[in-house]
Amino acid sequence: MLSVEDNDILTQTGPGTPMGELMREYWVPIALSSEFPVAGGDQVRILVLSERLIAFRSPDGQMGLIREACPHRGASLFYGRNEPDGIRCVYHGWKFGTDGGCIDMPSEPANSNFKRKIRATTYPVQERIGIVWAYLGSRETPPPMPNFEAFDVHADDEPDEMIASAVMRDCNWLQGMEGDLDTSHFGFLHVGHAQTSDAPDGTFLQYAIADRAPRYKIVERDFGATYGAYRQADDPDHLYWRIAHFLFPFYAMIPTGALGQKVGVRAWVPMDDEHMMMFNIGADTAYRPDPEQEVGMWVFEDDRLLPNTTDWYGRFRLEKHQGNDYLIDRDLQRSGRSFTGIPSIHTEDQAITESMGPIYDRTKEHLGTSDVMVIRMRRLLIAAARARHEDGTVPPGVDQPDAYQERSGGVVLGKDKDWLAATAYLREPGELRYEMDIQMTGGA
Ligand code: FES
Ligand SMILES: [Fe+2]
Repeated sequence: MLSVEDNDILTQTGPGTPMGELMREYWVPIALSSEFPVAGGDQVRILVLSERLIAFRSPDGQMGLIREACPHRGASLFYGRNEPDGIRCVYHGWKFGTDGGCIDMPSEPANSNFKRKIRATTYPVQERIGIVWAYLGSRETPPPMPNFEAFDVHADDEPDEMIASAVMRDCNWLQGMEGDLDTSHFGFLHVGHAQTSDAPDGTFLQYAIADRAPRYKIVERDFGATYGAYRQADDPDHLYWRIAHFLFPFYAMIPTGALGQKVGVRAWVPMDDEHMMMFNIGADTAYRPDPEQEVGMWVFEDDRLLPNTTDWYGRFRLEKHQGNDYLIDRDLQRSGRSFTGIPSIHTEDQAITESMGPIYDRTKEHLGTSDVMVIRMRRLLIAAARARHEDGTVPPGVDQPDAYQERSGGVVLGKDKDWLAATAYLREPGELRYEMDIQMTGGA
């Protein structure tokens, strides 16, 4: 349970809020590069950390990000003209460069120097692996980008393996983030219908079904925290570990797949306090069941997206949403082939976190032992936001880009092994490490 004050600290990310200030210390994913397919193309409305911004690719191919409201009298620059060197407001023709300087003010006398006194708010942007990132903070020189392995392993010559996707969610960012750190829900929300005999023998999936209440170890790290959720493997001398990370301020590396064989990270980015955009970044080389087919005990369906619109909330919307009850299939739920009747793991997560309400009131919750990682993440975030707010302490990872060099996944270890030390080699970026048979995951 949280106090009202702590819940507010965690969930409010607008300008001037402690968590909003904390998040503005970091580079933030805001869009996919594919939203800006051509130089000089259409602007896109971007809502991030409760700021209304307009993103565009200028005619020379550079990305720009500018506050929506024109500094003259507030007209929306969404309707502006995307011209060489900047955006021109169509109300009175003021023009702003990507650095925010007013470079033309045709509504004033030619000898006026008024334009030199006017600046629009703009933010630095850069593109990496198909994602547009922005820095909304106050440093004159932005900090380095986090050094995710995903940035390196997928050079431009391997475009097929790159995954950069986004899905919007209608609830506060923390609900999404918490779902990624709460590995115990896997045994219910996603496979609650399954018996151990439904899973291939000797797989992670089978171990996870056999024991739905794993124990946890947590270690704080430079980037945030790592957890290992462990349960019995096949023989009494071995444990199955699910190893995953919370990385400041809103990243998760999740425990699905085989440790050492997968590279990836997910970002839970607040749009405003009641909406978020989830970015899935990097490569997932793990075993993946064919999404078109029913695989064993699992029914899979693609998470189809609606076409993007130009609305603030019109990008990367799932076809299944609150308004259609996520197309829940009650017969499927009764059939024993799905716990939820919602035939997609992502949509199950989406449905259940949105069902907690736009901003869950955590004064009403009752946390159990399976919530230890959620509790730890909240503590770390609250402490860092307070320290940042009270004395300007730079939060974890901002100036330590290499701290983000990590991998997550599942592994079987001897009972006598130290889980963190024994997995150091598998968690280290570089080659993919195939010591473990990928079929051993069973899809978990
Ligand atoms: S409101 Fe933009 S130029 Fe006047
Ligand atoms: Fe989930």
